[in-house]
Amino acid sequence: MKNILITGGAGFIGSHVVRLFVNKYPDYHIINLDKLTYAGNLANLKDIEDKSNYTFVKADICDFSRMMELFKQYHIDGVIHLAAESHVDRSIKDPFTFAQTNVMGTLSLLQAAKLTWEALPEAYEGKLFYHISTDEVYGALELTHPEGVEPPFTTTASSSEHHLAYGEKFFLETTKYNPHSPYSASKASSDHFVRAFHDTYGMPVVVTNCSNNYGPYQFPEKLIPLFINNIRHRKPLPVYGKGENVRDWLYVVDHARAIDVIFHKGKIAETYNIGGFNEWKNIDIIKVVINTVDRLLGRQEGEDLDLITYVTDRQGHDMRYAIDSSKLQKELGWEPSLQFEEGIEKTVKWYLENQEWMDHITSGDYQSYYDSMYKNR
Ligand code: NAD
Ligand code: TYD
Repeated sequence: MKNILITGGAGFIGSHVVRLFVNKYPDYHIINLDKLTYAGNLANLKDIEDKSNYTFVKADICDFSRMMELFKQYHIDGVIHLAAESHVDRSIKDPFTFAQTNVMGTLSLLQAAKLTWEALPEAYEGKLFYHISTDEVYGALELTHPEGVEPPFTTTASSSEHHLAYGEKFFLETTKYNPHSPYSASKASSDHFVRAFHDTYGMPVVVTNCSNNYGPYQFPEKLIPLFINNIRHRKPLPVYGKGENVRDWLYVVDHARAIDVIFHKGKIAETYNIGGFNEWKNIDIIKVVINTVDRLLGRQEGEDLDLITYVTDRQGHDMRYAIDSSKLQKELGWEPSLQFEEGIEKTVKWYLENQEWMDHITSGDYQSYYDSMYKNR
């Protein structure tokens, strides 16, 4: 029996990781630790909440003495750490919360793991602290392209197929950290602490940096679920700047599958980039989302394009993220299971069929958080 602590399991990505581990590994005891901030929602886990190998604990990772108690109580062997403040726009308004949760919270968990594990006869043998991070720590890439070729151009950086790219450079595991937003600065800092615990104390750690995720259960402050919901209700779609920023999108279940592979087969102290070689300009992905929602709602495709509303750009808006995940693909054999067209279709369908989930978040208990973010748009 392995006791695995998953932090942030009531959030978007965490809920997919918890679901995968609870269903796939009946011999593991999965302890989901979450503070249930505005972003945490136990409705994300309704389908597995009664499983015998699953326990939910409401706690704050910043509460160090509570973390010590939980490590001892549940004999934790492995940690998959996802709990964080995760939205760039919020970090611009309130950087303190990001430093507190993402930096101090991670340190609190690391220290609890260290003190607990070092006191065991086997010490770090069979233990792992797996930290989930973002590609945003690497900074921003430029929109450059080979001479004479207009972007996007096709490259073969992917091990399996050609894909569109908006620049010649990609983020590699060796790319120097250069975070720009308070969110990415706090994640970069937490990544450094995790590596420092390996280098100083010998703690077995792994860090992964993933590109933008999309899929079911994402809080509707992020681009894709926010826009799906707005299109449904024919509300304006606030596109920052000219809509030309590029993001690299991965279906969330494929991120969870990568976490499973890396948790079991990843090399200690290594970093792996996770991404599906799937770059999109914001305005292009927004048009795909509009057409898909329109079609699935029986409207005329493109009918809602006039909801696009260009608004003031995000401060310090990173131009392009693009992940090179060849190391993960070659060394551990992971690759995305879905093409983007299939993933976006599934995602839009899920939000349209789960309106109750969305209504709960955008009304009632959640309303004040939601309003505070969106009432001035
Ligand atoms: P999310 O905001 O949907 O979920 C975060 C979860 O953490 C919530 O359930 C929240 O309640 C919990 N949490 C927050 N503060 C806490 C605290 N102090 N103690 C305990 N729990 C707390 O975030 P997400 O999009 O699922 O991201 C999860 C992780 O993956 C984050 O570490 C994020 O940096 C990373 N990541 C996200 C993306 C993305 O596209 N969403 C991409 C790469 C990496
Ligand atoms: P987001 O989903 O917030 O993820 P991140 O900032 O971590 O990449 O935003 C994705 C892209 O969409 C980003 O370039 C900002 C842009 N964006 C908008 O244009 N309008 C919006 O309302 C939001 C939330 C994002």
